[in-house]
Amino acid sequence: MSDIIVNLKRRPAGEIRVAPSLLAADFAHFGSDVASAIEAGADWLHFDIMDGHFVPNLSFSADLVRAVRPAQSGVPFDVHLMVERPEDYIGAFADAGANLITIHPESTVHLQRNLAMIRAHGCRAGVALNPATTPEVLRYVLPDIDLVLVMTVNPGFGGQKFLPVAGKKVAELDRIRQETESGYLISVDGGVDAGVAAQLSQDGADVLVAGSSVFHHPMGVTEGVSALRNSVRQ
Ligand code: DX5
Ligand code: ZN
Repeated sequence: MSDIIVNLKRRPAGEIRVAPSLLAADFAHFGSDVASAIEAGADWLHFDIMDGHFVPNLSFSADLVRAVRPAQSGVPFDVHLMVERPEDYIGAFADAGANLITIHPESTVHLQRNLAMIRAHGCRAGVALNPATTPEVLRYVLPDIDLVLVMTVNPGFGGQKFLPVAGKKVAELDRIRQETESGYLISVDGGVDAGVAAQLSQDGADVLVAGSSVFHHPMGVTEGVSALRNSVRQ
């Protein structure tokens, strides 16, 4: 459990939230990689949960989230569920310490019910859009969402190549939130590095999820986070 209520206020132009994806951490030194990401100024920690069905890979269970929670009690945990039937797992992840839970519309028959369930567990509710999924799926759930996660790769693996067409979707989501006066944040996830961060921020992204560019940065995690922030600032 965690009592953090994630602030959804947008930051001024030039400032961005960075959410390191722990999928790219060194699993043999997981705790110290988490600590390095926090020391480097991570705003949120991003947990990629994969079930081997919705995506062709396995990753973490709720027990991993629960294990990290005590040492990082002040940091929002951003849980990205790439699983079929997320309704079977929402309670467990909320209980383990998630603060934001994001689900894919294709993974459930009952998107709105699941979003309401996430909020009922005291978490912010997000919807993730695969590269081929249109923002149109959000039209009738706009009051139920706090975050839209734009997948800039196909979900399932870290270290993939950024798909540039995703920038258009970010801009479209930015326009939709203005037109509908919605308060959701826009997050981007997959292949995000300092080379694409500034454009994504200009398109309307509020959160950069980044695995490889943070944890595999040649100069270390601190440089990885700083490079993202600095590119947006310039
Ligand atoms: C992909 C995941 C991403 C991914 C990001 O399925 O949702 O969070 O791990 O890692 P990089 O930044 O390496 O693409
Ligand atoms: Zn993710």
